[in-house]
Parts: sequence; structure tokens; C-alpha cells
Amino acid sequence: MVPLDFRFLMDQEPMKFSKAVSTSRKKTLVGLDIGSHSIKAVEIEHSKRGRTLRNFGIIGTPEDAVVEGSVKDVEAVAGAVKRLFRNLKVKNRNVAVSLSGYSVIAKKILLQRMDDPDIERAIKEEAEKYIPYGINEVNLDYTVLNTGDRLEETTEEKGASELNEEMDVLLVAGKSDVIDGYVSLIQAANLNLGVVDVDVFAMQNAAEISLDDPEGSYAIVTVGANELGINTVHRGISVFSRDSSYGGAQITRAIMSRFQVSYEEAEKMKLGGVELDYDRRSDVERIITDTVLQWITEIKHALDFVANTYPDESLTNIFVSGGASETPGFRRHLEDETNIPVAGLNPFKYLVVDERLFDTDYLQRMAPRAGVAVGLALRSIGDK
Ligand SMILES: Nc1ncnc2c1ncn2[C@@H]1O[C@H](COP(=O)(O)OP(=O)(O)OP(=O)(O)O)[C@@H](O)[C@H]1O
Ligand SMILES: [Mg+2]
Repeated sequence: MVPLDFRFLMDQEPMKFSKAVSTSRKKTLVGLDIGSHSIKAVEIEHSKRGRTLRNFGIIGTPEDAVVEGSVKDVEAVAGAVKRLFRNLKVKNRNVAVSLSGYSVIAKKILLQRMDDPDIERAIKEEAEKYIPYGINEVNLDYTVLNTGDRLEETTEEKGASELNEEMDVLLVAGKSDVIDGYVSLIQAANLNLGVVDVDVFAMQNAAEISLDDPEGSYAIVTVGANELGINTVHRGISVFSRDSSYGGAQITRAIMSRFQVSYEEAEKMKLGGVELDYDRRSDVERIITDTVLQWITEIKHALDFVANTYPDESLTNIFVSGGASETPGFRRHLEDETNIPVAGLNPFKYLVVDERLFDTDYLQRMAPRAGVAVGLALRSIGDK
């Protein structure tokens, strides 16, 4: 579990825990993933039978209301969130949301072993080195990744770590104005903000409960509508993560301008929902292939960097997720280009699902888009 909450080192505390939270049931959070294309909500209950899916739903994001990971139109998004909660009859008002894109920076750093108050001071100093924003423009958080067996980047470091007491720390900075946007949104939707997490780490938490070997070395690649997230994990620890501005909406926009059609029409043409003549179908296929190859170049770039940084830890699998990871040809090309087996990540795989309450075919179809929301629903207030 990567338990971030950005409560640490904040000038104004955006999360109000005013009501005392007493029973453990109340501590659970509704995972709320606010994407640029769709909003997903997940509730998970921890019962004797294991982690049980209580609720899942998805609703379209109003057009241009969420851009590059930040909420641009609070009222419109709040309206959609309220509709989603009403449709799903969600009772729990406490939610977990996540940051993504340029508004969040995560970096694994090495610190001398020290106690919490000293770590906080050291983190502030380190943050000033790594973060391209003013220290007053960000909310900082960190998590100590491992206590004994740290991951060495080079052979010299191996020697050093035997002599020095050092530890890996994940430093995370979220843009304060973007976090404020989520605070306003959650208030406008009459909900309480319990946790602010990060898309790629929520996805990693979802992977931990759904992979057969969560301790291995793998990459998770999430392709949404406008963001492509990469996270490489060695023995449960994220060693590198990055979001770039790629995604399924690139294809939709290219189809819009090629054929002068609306977003909805282009989306249908992309997903095969309309009959097209041979020439048009070929044009659409070419747009899809060109875009997919751009994604793969970006992914390979990141994986090469990780391979050079951690020569002893080779990736054995790539798990893909996000609506656009289903784009025809993507998985096959990715596997061909990296020589690493590619598989879909199904965050529902090991959740207990009551088949009288859920349409399991629908869950299967939505599984690629549900990872972040499932990961967020695994969080609870005060789990840090
Ligand atoms: N079967 C499919 N094949 C190809 N693309 C698909 C498919 N289903 C959905 N998509 C695309 O996936 C995208 C939506 O995925 P998702 O819900 O994961 O995005 P999001 O979380 O809202 O976006 P982001 O996180 O990038 O802001 C859209 O671009 C949509 O067209
Ligand atoms: Mg998304």
C-alpha cells in the first residue's frame, strides 16, 4: 500500500476531519476517480468473506470540465458526481480522490535513516531540489518505502548501503491550486474529502490485490482519455512513475479534424459503432496505428530509463489498464516492441462479487477503467 494523503506540511489543511470517526465502518472511503472522460465510483467492504465489492458505477464527465488532471468546472463535475452517487444509492459521504498529470510529481529519493520529525525537515529541503514549482505552491507528502532491504541503483551504492544506514523515501508533491479545486468540488457535491491520493499509486494498490505475484518486477501502464501513466514496481516498491499527455482522446480528436465530425461521432467511428466505407475505415485505422505507436515510443523510453537505472531488476510483465488500453493493436505492438508479456489488469479479479447485485459481464467490460477507483476505495481515513 502506498498510503499518501498530502496532509503533511500543508499551510492550510484542506481536509477537515471535524466529525470524529469512531466505528471502522465509517472509516471506509468511496473511491472516486474523476477522469477527463468519465467519473468512476467504487465502494469496497471488508467483511469475513474478504474484500467485497459493494458498489460500482461510471458516468460521463461533462465536456472540458476536467482538463489535465484539474477540475475546471466545479459545478458541472459536482452535478455529475451527485447524479452518480444518487444512481448508485451511495450512503457513505467520505471519499478518496486522486491527482494526476502535471499537477503531481513523485520521486524516489535516498535519505539517511532518521526519525519522523527530521524526515519532514529533510523532505522539505529535498523537495526544493526536485520540484519545478515554488515550495509554497505545492503540498508535500512522503512515504518510507522500505526499512531494510533497499533497491540499489548502482553497484557502488550496494557497498555504500552496507556501511550507511539509508532508506528509500517516496517524495510526492501535489500542486496546491489543483488540490484546492478538488476540495471545492467535493464540498459542492456535499461530500467529505478523506484522502487525496495519486492515480498511479491508486492503480498500484489495485494491482497489489489483483495480481498473482504482486512481489515481482512489473510495469503498470494506464492509458485513459488524456493521460498515459507509467509506474514500474520492483518488489512492491514504485521506483519510477510518470504521466504524459497521451490517451484515447488523441485518436478521437484526430478523427474529428480528419472528417469534420463532432466528438460523439468521432468517438463512435473510433469504437466501431458506425458503418464506414473502405476508405474511411482505412483512414481511421491509420490514425489509430499512428497514435498507438506514439504511446509505445513513450512507454519504451520510460522502460529503457528504468532498465538502465536498475540493471539488476528486469521487468517480467507489463499490466495495462485504462479505457484506451483496449485500442486495437496496442497490447500486441507493446509486447512486440518490448519483448515483455503484456496482460490486462482486472482490479475486480479477487474481490468478492455478489452476482445477484452485479452484472458480471458489465464488470468485466468496465474492469479496464475501474483500477484507480478500486485502488482509492482500498484507502480509509487515517490509514497512513
Ligand atoms: N473498447 C475501447 N477501445 C478503445 N478505446 C476505448 C474503449 N473503451 C473506451 N475507450 C477510450 O478510453 C478513454 C476513456 O478511458 P478512461 O475512462 O480510463 O479515461 P479517463 O480516466 O476518463 O481519462 P484520463 O484519466 O486520461 O483523464 C476514451 O478515450 C475512450 O474512447
Ligand atoms: Mg483515468
